[in-house]
Amino acid sequence: MPVRSVIIGTGAKLPSQVLTNKDLERMVDTSDEWIRTRTGIHQRYIAGEGETNSYLAAEASKEALEMAGIRARDLDLIIVGTMSPDMPMPSVACLVQRELGAEKAGAFDLSATCSGFLYGLSIADKFIKDNQRLKILVVGSEVLSRRVNWKDRGTCVLFGDGAGAAVVAGEKGDRGILSTHLHADGTLWELLTIKALGTAVPLTPEVLEKGWQYIQMQGRDVFRHAVRALEAVAWEALEANGFTGEDVDLLISHQANMRILEHMRERLGLSREKVFINIHKYGNTSAASIPIALDEANRSGILTPGMNLLMVAFGGGFTWGSVAMRW
Ligand code: COA
Repeated sequence: MPVRSVIIGTGAKLPSQVLTNKDLERMVDTSDEWIRTRTGIHQRYIAGEGETNSYLAAEASKEALEMAGIRARDLDLIIVGTMSPDMPMPSVACLVQRELGAEKAGAFDLSATCSGFLYGLSIADKFIKDNQRLKILVVGSEVLSRRVNWKDRGTCVLFGDGAGAAVVAGEKGDRGILSTHLHADGTLWELLTIKALGTAVPLTPEVLEKGWQYIQMQGRDVFRHAVRALEAVAWEALEANGFTGEDVDLLISHQANMRILEHMRERLGLSREKVFINIHKYGNTSAASIPIALDEANRSGILTPGMNLLMVAFGGGFTWGSVAMRW
């Protein structure tokens, strides 16, 4: 029997405030109708005071630990995928480690934008293959509301805040992670970027005037690349496991645009109930989108033992990847 990485607990945390499309109509030149038809988003959650990235991440993690039935001090490693940490140093993962009291866990953040959770899951899988006794917490957590320009209608309607978490452990048997595939293309970085706030570009009045402290996206180009990469990585995962589209019981894709999800569904030949969708409630929560969806699918009973689950993500960098698993 092979040792596989199994998800033994999931959790999610959304901030307390909801921002609807109607609210956005009062902020920028947009309409509920445009946002719904072009993106599928109806509302998103926005972090209020005290609802920091590390707070959301820790709360999601507590839920995941509770479901897993293990104590924080049994964790060996904490990986947080994020592009909107509380601060450059320390990492969100270290703040989560402190909040949970995960005394013996190593902790680090991982920068792979919207693919962060799947990159993290892939790393956890490698650790567990090396030592099946390890317990690893993988989190995706974002406060993107602090990274968007609320005057730019091309981006501010898309993103939301939230966190999702999963506890991964080793188990002998058929269930667990079957394959992971990671990809990147740094040559296209300028299509989706926050140019300032790192160390390369000083925050001068000119830079602030250009809005380089916010997410800048060439939406149409990103859309084109996202559609192509997500479909390709899905087929790559299926082929690696000797599967066809018919073998997929549930697809959990990064929730960036309803039209991208619909395109994937058609190309893979999946029926509607096999594609998990919650973009209407949360918008694009970047690294948090897949673990939030995973937790919803898990708690609602949509995910049942033995199901073949395919997860795919795409984001700035560009980064993209897949994790296929038997639930
Ligand atoms: N409300 C109303 N009109 C808007 C708008 C808004 N919020 N945002 C843009 N528009 C306008 C544009 O100005 C443009 O007007 P014009 O034709 O007069 O120039 C028109 O709508 C079409 O813009 P375009 O950018 O071509 O729209 P689109 O159909 O490509 O949809 C996105 C825009 C952002 C929703 C879409 O490109 C997208 O989802 N991109 C990918 C995002 C993604 O996948 N990210 C993944 C990585 S996180």
